[in-house]
Amino acid sequence: MEDEAAIAVREAALRAAAQVGSPADSSQQGGTVTDPTSPQGKVSRETFEPQPGNGFEAGDSSVEAMAAQDGAARVVDSATAAKNARVTFRVLAGAGGPRCQHVIAVANQKGGVGKSTTAVNLGAYLALAGARILVVDLDPQGNASTGLGLDHRRIEPSVYDVLTGEAEPAQAIRQAAVTNLHVLPSTIDLAGAEVELVNAFSRETRLRRALDSVRHNYDIMLVDCPPSLGLLTVNALAACDELLIPIQCEYYALEGLGQLLRNVDLVRANLNTGLQIGGIVLTMYDGRTRLAEQVVDEVRKHFTDLVYRTIVPRSVRLSEAPGYGVPIALYDPLSRGGIAYRDLASELAERTGLLAPIGEGAS
Ligand SMILES: Nc1ncnc2c1ncn2[C@@H]1O[C@H](COP(=O)(O)OP(=O)(O)OP(=O)(O)O)[C@@H](O)[C@H]1O
Ligand SMILES: [Mg+2]
Repeated sequence: MEDEAAIAVREAALRAAAQVGSPADSSQQGGTVTDPTSPQGKVSRETFEPQPGNGFEAGDSSVEAMAAQDGAARVVDSATAAKNARVTFRVLAGAGGPRCQHVIAVANQKGGVGKSTTAVNLGAYLALAGARILVVDLDPQGNASTGLGLDHRRIEPSVYDVLTGEAEPAQAIRQAAVTNLHVLPSTIDLAGAEVELVNAFSRETRLRRALDSVRHNYDIMLVDCPPSLGLLTVNALAACDELLIPIQCEYYALEGLGQLLRNVDLVRANLNTGLQIGGIVLTMYDGRTRLAEQVVDEVRKHFTDLVYRTIVPRSVRLSEAPGYGVPIALYDPLSRGGIAYRDLASELAERTGLLAPIGEGAS
C-alpha cells in the first residue's frame, strides 16, 4: 500500500503538471544527451577524498586567498582548472551570433532549493568549457555574488543601481574566479527595489533592457532569482528566454510549482511571448531515502523530458564551497556534487545547441 508521502507527492506532481500543459513530446527523450560521462538518471559518485582541484582545498589558506580581494575574485588558470575538473566537453563560443540567445532564469519561489548553487556552478562549468557566461544575481541575499568570490561589502555599483537607472550594466559587471565568467552582483540594497520601482515606468522590463545592452558579450546569461514571485522574479521572467526550475527531492518539493507556472503564463501573455520552460533540475537527492526516489519518479513521470537526466545529489562539498567564494569546479571538482554540475552543464549545453561536436572547439 502506498504511504501518505507517496500519495502527496503524486497529487502535487499532477497539479503542477496540469499547469505546465501536456508534457513535451516524449519521443524526443533520450536523444538530447550524448555526454558519455553522464549515465542516464544516475547520480554522480562522491569522492569523499579531498581533491586537489585547482590546488585549492578546504582549510587551505590558498582557498581563502581566492575570496574577494578589493571586492573582486582572483582569476585562476582556466585551462588547468578545466583539466582538473575533467571538463571534456566544449561549448561553441559565439555560436549564438551577435546576440546571446540563452538568457536562463533559475527560479523557484521556494527557498533553499538550490537556485544559487545551480546558477553559480553551471556558470563556472560552462565557462570552463569555453562559454562566455554572465551570472546575474537578482537576489538581495547576494548568495551568487559571494559564492563567486565577491565581497558583498565592497560591491558598488550593483544590479540595484542598474535597475534603478543609476548605473550601466557594464559598470557593475565584475570578473569572477574563472576566465569568461562574469557576475552582475547584488547587495541587500536590492531589497528596496521592489518597493522603489512600484510606480516606475516599465518596472517589469528594467532587467531586460539592461541585459540587452550587454547580451552581445555572452553565450549564456544565468539569472539567479530570489525565493519569491515578486517584481524581481517578474523582471527575470520578462528578460529570459527560458526558465530553469530547481526542485529539491523532498516532501512538499512540488508545492508552489503550480503558482510559478501560472506566473510564467501571465508573463508570457503580457511581457515575453517567447518565454519557455527550459527544464527542471532535481537537487539535493539523498539516495538513502525512499522519499527522494518517489519525488524523482513522480517528477519524471509528469514532466518527462523537461527534467534533466543529471540529478544533483546532496553533497557536503557543494555546501562548503560558497564559504570559500569559489564554485565547486575549483573547490572539489571530483566530488559527487562537482561531477553532477559538470554533467548538468554538459546537458544544458547540448539542449541549448551550444555543445561542440567531439573534436571541435577543443582547446
Ligand atoms: N546539492 C546540495 N547538497 C548539499 N547542500 C546543498 C546542495 N545544493 C545547495 N546546498 C546548500 O543548501 C543551501 C541552499 O542552497 P541555495 O542557496 O543554492 O538555494 P536557493 O534556492 O538559492 O536558496 P534561496 O531561496 O534562499 O535563494 C545552501 O546552504 C547551499 O550551500
Ligand atoms: Mg539563492
